[in-house]
Amino acid sequence: MEQGVTLEGKRILLIIGGGIAAYKSLDLIRRLRERGASVRVVLTAAGKQFVTPLSVASLTGNPVHEDLFCLTEETEMGHIELSRSADLLVVAPATADLLAKAAAGIANDLASTILLATDKKVLMAPAMNVRMWDHPATVRNVAQLREDGLLFVGPSDGEMACGEYGPGRMSEPMEILASIAGALQPTSQVLAGRRVIVTSGPTHEPIDPVRYIANRSSGRQGHAIAAAAAQAGAHVTLVTGPVSISDPVGVSVVRVETAKEMLAAVKASLPADIFIGAAAVADWGFEKPAAGKIKKEKGSGPPTLALVENPDILAEVSRPGESRPALVVGFAAETGNLIDHARTKLQRKGCDLIVANDVGPGTGVMGGPKNTVHLISSDQQEAWPLLDKGEVARRLIQRFAGMLGK
Ligand code: CTP
Repeated sequence: MEQGVTLEGKRILLIIGGGIAAYKSLDLIRRLRERGASVRVVLTAAGKQFVTPLSVASLTGNPVHEDLFCLTEETEMGHIELSRSADLLVVAPATADLLAKAAAGIANDLASTILLATDKKVLMAPAMNVRMWDHPATVRNVAQLREDGLLFVGPSDGEMACGEYGPGRMSEPMEILASIAGALQPTSQVLAGRRVIVTSGPTHEPIDPVRYIANRSSGRQGHAIAAAAAQAGAHVTLVTGPVSISDPVGVSVVRVETAKEMLAAVKASLPADIFIGAAAVADWGFEKPAAGKIKKEKGSGPPTLALVENPDILAEVSRPGESRPALVVGFAAETGNLIDHARTKLQRKGCDLIVANDVGPGTGVMGGPKNTVHLISSDQQEAWPLLDKGEVARRLIQRFAGMLGK
């Protein structure tokens, strides 16, 4: 997230559920307060097993709320008042149990009652064992909550406290903070009611069951664009290749692996008003990956990998026809002759605008937090300064909205 983001005067109501990730919520409180936010905490009974009310109270400078039926607490600040006096509710860690209760509208303790009684935005930062996250019940609950308008940050992939690996780790405090800042931002709804499809990240092209070809794209720029479009009121579908960053808040995410899968997912998501191809799609893949692991044969040397060209998603979406979005935007990742290559791509692919960026070694653009872009259309060329990828995304969305409105 951008340095120096201020949350001055913002009031956060943080619900800490019972999970090992609760320790990260203590750091989150600290970072929120550093940026000027005030934090009140509701600690669930399970949450109390992981962090103590004393550490929470010391960090927030406020009393901790634990009990729905505590007479003193209810008189001083009742459960309705707790939500009323907040700008945003954050649930971190959001356990499978809390998600299930919220999805079903169960209100049998202070945290779940607040979640049912609130009319404020709610940001969930889930954390649980990978099997619990993948369980059909949790998948259903998350889908329901998204439909109900709740926001999500994470979970991310990684090694878990239980020794397993996969999605289920709570996002890091800085990522949660970025989502909080995003959720609190006053949004000018320039894309209200519009449908936007964004592709992001790399694609993985399998060679055999254990190997693949990939590239260094992190998905940061594409994800930031999807988030900015959602904040501007659009209905956003993000089709993403394998990335390790969190899902943006308020978008529908379709995860794919290969270029072919990405094309199919994009086609299935059409129609749209705007298509933004920010993914670093692999140009080549394998027609038929080997069914078993390719083994070293003594004396026969390294295998020859026969590549075939992948479909060009941007070119296909740009093709004139009924399903062509009104605005089709491509990216050009180049390591030299940026403008010339971008112009050629604009013509070759038939899109309306190319966002060109220099990804050469030493620029730090691929995978890094910042970007310098050039906007190339048939009649214009514009250079933007070095900006945070979030800021690039917000400015791009403003620009696209303007182009759509013309
Ligand atoms: N793109 C795509 N499908 C592909 C390849 C690229 O949709 N199979 C899109 C990218 O998402 C991006 C734009 O096309 O919006 C340009 O991608 P880039 O990798 O820069 O260009 P290439 O088409 O790969 O051309 P080259 O290899 O010559 O750089």
